[in-house]
Amino acid sequence: MRIIAANWKMNHSPQETLDFFSKWSTLVTQVPEFQQVTSLFFIPNYCWPSVTQFPKVLWGIQNFYPEIKGAFTGECSASIMKELGATWALVGHSERRHLFNESLDFINKKIIFSHQTGLKPILCVGETQAEKADQLLKKVLQSQLESGLKGLTADTPLTIAYEPVWAIGTGLTAKDEDIIEAHNSINECIKNLGFTKPPIILYGGSVKPDNAQSILKLPDVNGLLVGGASLNPHDFFKIVQSANDIEN
Ligand code: PGA
Repeated sequence: MRIIAANWKMNHSPQETLDFFSKWSTLVTQVPEFQQVTSLFFIPNYCWPSVTQFPKVLWGIQNFYPEIKGAFTGECSASIMKELGATWALVGHSERRHLFNESLDFINKKIIFSHQTGLKPILCVGETQAEKADQLLKKVLQSQLESGLKGLTADTPLTIAYEPVWAIGTGLTAKDEDIIEAHNSINECIKNLGFTKPPIILYGGSVKPDNAQSILKLPDVNGLLVGGASLNPHDFFKIVQSANDIEN
């Protein structure tokens, strides 16, 4: 089973969300055996009334504050989003780490809170261009995983997205050997941290319909996290279809 996740970021209005899923539903119903792949959508929060008109669509939140409620002006409650139908949460995305200064500790709080709330988190990890140039890939992954997963029980099911920061939204994709090395390091690190279940590891960073399948064929790549190319239902459908073709 593969996971192909869409990260819409701050794109698509409620009306555009309705339009997207009307087209999406038509595309998906043309492929009845489309069951080898789980597709899910990280939408802007204000699009929930639109997405919930399509009950088969799995969706999640891009951000939340890790407390049940309280004086946190402007923040979003994970448990309320869950009540509204969200089932997944993105945590540690590079834009949250770098543009909004989310610290390793804060990301860990969000991971723990997400599990407590019953939302399945995807923990995003990845190195910057400078860290790559300094050959710090393994160190960075180790530090982001160790701190991000602190306090979870050994049998927690884990979903990790490897997203090299320099590949996000740039049109640059990591080379095959870099993806293999990173996914292998993630597996090793998670084993060394004492987790008993192998993680699901997604790759993200400039995934497009024309490179999705070759990335999905690499060892230890269990799925994709797609930004720009997930905004168009036809492009995202082609990516999900690539994953489905490999499984069949
Ligand atoms: P991209 O974004 O596919 O546009 O590079 C990926 C992401 O930010 O998750």
